[in-house]
Amino acid sequence: MQTIQDAAGLRATIRGWRAQGHMIGFVPTMGNLHAGHHSLVKLARARADRVVASVFVNPTQFGPNEDFERYPRTLAQDQAGLAESDCDVLFAPDVATVYPFGSDKSVSLHVPELTDTLEGAHRPGHFDGVATVVCKLFNLVQPDIAIFGQKDFQQLKVIERMVRDLSLPVKVMSGPTLRADDGLALSSRNQYLSAADRATAPLIYETLQQMRDLIAKGHARKVVEQAAASKLERAGFVPDYAAIRRAEDLAEPADGEHEGLVALIAARLGTTRLIDNLLFD
Ligand code: PAJ
Repeated sequence: MQTIQDAAGLRATIRGWRAQGHMIGFVPTMGNLHAGHHSLVKLARARADRVVASVFVNPTQFGPNEDFERYPRTLAQDQAGLAESDCDVLFAPDVATVYPFGSDKSVSLHVPELTDTLEGAHRPGHFDGVATVVCKLFNLVQPDIAIFGQKDFQQLKVIERMVRDLSLPVKVMSGPTLRADDGLALSSRNQYLSAADRATAPLIYETLQQMRDLIAKGHARKVVEQAAASKLERAGFVPDYAAIRRAEDLAEPADGEHEGLVALIAARLGTTRLIDNLLFD
């Protein structure tokens, strides 16, 4: 596997592949890779001739009081893992390569509607940063397909909408959330949890399943959401939201609407903020 840090080098490699008629699959990440990321690389491997993964901790999607500085940077470990997952190129640019004209002075994308709720409401500007960097990475890598995790469900919807509205020539695909044996969704942030908090954390997935089951039994959405938030609070979480939405557009479902729903939770445990979701069958 080749590691490329500059845009010109990446473009040259991509041009070579294109000349040979290869189809390119792309998995964007912020590094500190775990089995969840690798599962997306494997999906790309199965669907494309060439696979590019990127590792870039994108400053524009972190708020001023978020963990940009302390976000784990483990490039050597990520390189080894990606080589093992049979990735062809790791693109690992620095901030100046991605934002040569300054991130605050460059064009920024805003995806309306989907981004003023849930994560967007609690992390102002976050999805502008995500959409902008993903669009930029798409332009650098020029993939045929790009793969995102359902773990960040709202992010997946935002990217799908961006690609649709800007007519970007990329097919967006998604992979299921990988979990630890106790149900906790794998995340780079889990390592910040104390041993006691790590033992409590699986309650998020348990609560999501309970939300699904209660809705299936006909309980009112607002009551289910409130009960989920209270359950998390009692266990020591500070929930930002426990919500049931339409999977398609994240809008609030009407009373009695049961098809195509998703439950989403964001909650802090100690200083760590965890998010997870569950699509209802
Ligand atoms: P990051 O948090 O590194 O995640 C990279 C990709 O891995 C995302 O598509 C995410 O949904 C997926 N992922 C994370 N945990 C997962 C799990 N447990 N199972 C399956 N997939 C999982 O998301 C980002 O980076 C950034 O916002 C990015 C899109 C790279 C833009 O900077």
